[in-house]
Amino acid sequence: MRKTATTPPATGQRIPAQPGPRGVPLGMLVPPAQTAVEDVMAGTVSADTGEQAGHGAVIPGAGPATRPGERATVRLRDVGPDDPPRYAPEWLELREGADAVARAPELLDPLRIRLANLPGKSGVVIHDLGCGTGSMGRWLAPRLDGAQHWILHDRDPYLLHFAAVASPRAAADGSRVTVETRRGDVARLTPDALVGASLVTASALLDVLTREEVDALVTACVGAGCPALLTLSVAGRVELTPAHPMDAEIADAFNAHQRRDGLLGPDAVTVTCEAFAAHGATVRVHPSAWRLGPDDLALTAEWLRGWVGAAVEERPELKERADRYLRDRLAACAAGELTVLVHHSDLLALARPTGGAS
Ligand SMILES: C[S@@+](CC[C@H](N)C(=O)[O-])C[C@H]1O[C@@H](n2cnc3c(N)ncnc32)[C@H](O)[C@@H]1O
Repeated sequence: MRKTATTPPATGQRIPAQPGPRGVPLGMLVPPAQTAVEDVMAGTVSADTGEQAGHGAVIPGAGPATRPGERATVRLRDVGPDDPPRYAPEWLELREGADAVARAPELLDPLRIRLANLPGKSGVVIHDLGCGTGSMGRWLAPRLDGAQHWILHDRDPYLLHFAAVASPRAAADGSRVTVETRRGDVARLTPDALVGASLVTASALLDVLTREEVDALVTACVGAGCPALLTLSVAGRVELTPAHPMDAEIADAFNAHQRRDGLLGPDAVTVTCEAFAAHGATVRVHPSAWRLGPDDLALTAEWLRGWVGAAVEERPELKERADRYLRDRLAACAAGELTVLVHHSDLLALARPTGGAS
C-alpha cells in the first residue's frame, strides 16, 4: 500500500485556482503530476496523463455536456468509452456550501461516542471514500476532537490532487489533522484496506454506486469493525416552489436516469441500510436536504440544468417541452422567485467492533 500524497499543513481551506474547465481548452488539460500514484484498492498503477476532452457525458445528478466546458458538472476528460465519468471540481466546489448546511449533525453525537470508546487514545484514522475534492473532511474534521489522520480515496487522481491541497488542518480541539490520498475503486475495497480504520466516511457517493459496489463497501466496513458515516445520498424527491405541471415528469425521468446501468440512484440508502443490517450493524438515517433559495442562485441554476439535462437524456422525447421548462425555471431562479428542496439522506452505520481499530 503506497500513498499518493501526504500533505504538509494545508495552505488554506479553499480549493485553489487550478487549470480547469474554464478558460483552458479542455483538450489541453492534464491532471496534476502523479509521482507516486498507486491504486491501493485495485492494486494497479496508472500514469493517467494527456487525456482528451469528453463530449456528451452525464454525471449522475448533473446533465449532458453539449459543448466541452459548457457546464461545471460535466466530465472533464475521456479516457475511453468504458471509463467512468469524471466530476468537475467546480461543480463539487459549487455544492460544498449547501452540502455543509444540509449534513445531519444529529448523527455526530452517536459517532463521537463510538470514537471515544475506541481502544487507544492516539487519534483516529478516517477513510473518506469517493472523496472528490475532500469536502467531507473539510466539514467533519473540525467537528471532531482529537488528532485525526484522513485517508482520502477516489478513483480520479485529478480530484485527489485538489483534496490534498485543500485538506483540513485542525480538529475541533486544535489537534493536528493529517491527510494522505489513495487512488482506487470502491468496488475493490477490502477489509484489509481498512485495517486500523476508526471510521469510514463518504459523501454524495452511494447513489452513484451499484449494488455490488455497496456490498463491497459494507463488507469491508463490517469486516474492519468500523463505523460508517455515509452522507448526502439522493432520496429521489425534489420540491420546487412554485410548482409546475412538468415537475413530476422531469423528476421521474431523472430518477430513471440515476438508475441506469445498475446504479442505485434513489434506492441507495435502502440498499445500504439492508446490507449493513444483514451484517448485524445498527443503522440510523437522517434527512439532509438541500434547501435552495435566492441566496443559492448559481447552485440552483447549475442543478436545474443538470437535473433537466439528465431527464432529457433518459427520455429524449421530452426535449422540446423540457427546454421551455428549463428556460422558465432558470428565469424564475434568476429573479429570486424559485425555491428548491432536494431531498438527501445521511446514514450512520455502527458495525460491531472487531478490536482491530486504532
Ligand atoms: C458526487 S462526487 C462526490 C465527491 C465528494 N465526496 C463530495 O461530497 O464533494 C462522487 C465521487 O466519487 C468518486 N467515485 C465514484 N465512483 C467511485 C468508485 N467506484 N470508486 C472510487 N471513487 C468513485 C468520483 O470520482 C467522485 O469524486
